[in-house]
Amino acid sequence: MNYLGLNSEKVGVTVAELNTLLANYHIYYQNLRNFHWNVEGENFFDLHEKFEELYDDALIKIDEIAERVLTLRHRPISRFSDYIAEAEIDESPVFKEDSKMVAAILSNHRAIIKSMRRVIDVAGKAEDEGTIDLIGSALENIEKKSWMLDAWLAKKEEASLVQ
Ligand SMILES: [Fe+2]
Repeated sequence: MNYLGLNSEKVGVTVAELNTLLANYHIYYQNLRNFHWNVEGENFFDLHEKFEELYDDALIKIDEIAERVLTLRHRPISRFSDYIAEAEIDESPVFKEDSKMVAAILSNHRAIIKSMRRVIDVAGKAEDEGTIDLIGSALENIEKKSWMLDAWLAKKEEASLVQ
């Protein structure tokens, strides 16, 4: 048992998944900055701002995940080389088309959602409700963001078929 009354071995398994999620979030964050800086064209004003909103939110999540690891009395990974090695998300190329940016964000979200579900699964086995609560609400939030981006992309694809 650790100081929170949780099984230390099981907490170690949760922390490993939280650190993977943390690594995923860092690559996702940098992809969003890439898109914020490189987006051009007719949707510039909408997307430039939307990408900023998403990376601001990602920064908050990053800090919450890292501080959950600290609350569990472990060390969050904190070096970019470790994030790249640990992440399941790839760095994005510089795209010219905004639809590729949005599709890449949706793909990053799918990887993050999978990663979050693994955290919730192992945290459940550790009866770690605090982690489940934190990651569960972040999961619902990123699912909602995905819906909005998917709706935007569907409309965009429809418009390009009409042309
Ligand atoms: Fe900016």
